[in-house]
Amino acid sequence: MNLFDVYLLLNITPVRGEGIFLFDEQGNRYMDLYGGHAVISVGHSHPHYVKTISRQLEQLGFYSNSVKIPIQNELADKLGAVCGYPDYSLFLCNSGAEANENALKLASFKNGKKKIIAFSKSFHGRTSLALAATDDKSIQAKINANGNILFLPFNDAEALQNAFNDEICAVIIEGIQGVGGVNIPDSSFLKLLRELCDKHNASLILDEIQSGYGRSGYFFAHQYAGIQADLITVAKGMGNGFPIGAVLISPEFEAKFGLLGTTFGGNYLACAAAISVLDIIQQENLIENARNIGTYMIEQLKGFKQLKEVRGMGLMIGIEMHEPIAALRNKLIQEHNVFTGTSSNKNTIRILPPLCISKADTDYFLEAFSSSINN
Ligand SMILES: Cc1ncc(COP(=O)(O)O)c(C=O)c1O
Repeated sequence: MNLFDVYLLLNITPVRGEGIFLFDEQGNRYMDLYGGHAVISVGHSHPHYVKTISRQLEQLGFYSNSVKIPIQNELADKLGAVCGYPDYSLFLCNSGAEANENALKLASFKNGKKKIIAFSKSFHGRTSLALAATDDKSIQAKINANGNILFLPFNDAEALQNAFNDEICAVIIEGIQGVGGVNIPDSSFLKLLRELCDKHNASLILDEIQSGYGRSGYFFAHQYAGIQADLITVAKGMGNGFPIGAVLISPEFEAKFGLLGTTFGGNYLACAAAISVLDIIQQENLIENARNIGTYMIEQLKGFKQLKEVRGMGLMIGIEMHEPIAALRNKLIQEHNVFTGTSSNKNTIRILPPLCISKADTDYFLEAFSSSINN
């Protein structure tokens, strides 16, 4: 049987990982500044992560959500304590798209409305509602278009004010747009969103699937604006590669038996992975590291005259060139063994390293980058 051929592959076969590095079949070492698409938060094969998941597997790997699973409560307690939303509740699922799907559904369950505001260049996943709220027609099938999504220009306060009315069920926005090329919502824009959602009885959904879990230098990127969301969606960095997603739900939402559900969501292994990620984030001060190293990397990158723009916060950085980045990205991989990410903006490289990256590794990348753009 062949694989369904939907991915553009780099000609590299990683077989082992350690911290911010990957190793291929020949033992060549690569610096991973892509983090498997912002997934690797605490580093590849961190010993505490490996031990926690292995121990859990020796005990029990899976049972469905029809029994008590205290490790879910342990995860909720830990997450509530570190993320700044201790009074919210947690619904566990398996992926980012599924988290957004559930968040949108919860918003509609709560206020009975169905019109959603989303933004230009947004990406929220590939399940039906999440995809409908994604600003990319090329990946939507006819069946995904539900006619309920209003796309507004990103960071345009006037357009937002003009479009908002009592029919709006929810607004969904990324903490920092990732796939769209690393675009940060203005603090004033997020505050306006909060105000308008309150005024019109709409829910504010913050998609922190890529920008959350410390990547921005805050636990959630939107916290830099001093606002609170009604629903926050997480995945990627939450499990450091073990599939897990979740919705953090404000106390204003009432849980009802059977309202949401999943077979695999919240399984023992996923919870063990997610707990060990939070342990490591705290023990190794990774949020502070993301802020410090990210600030340093952004400052240094801004010194390169050849770039059009450097955007980002913490370790979520977009480097926009004046030309397509494909050749530069290949050079970084082939000549310097450095992996970087792409975005829907073909001139923008995305830097999404594990949060444990050191200053010395950052300097190696900056040297490699400098030599790649100058030769
Ligand atoms: C902001 C954002 N939301 C949602 C998703 C979808 O997550 P998943 O691929 O886990 O379904 C992604 C994935 O790239 C994302 O970046």
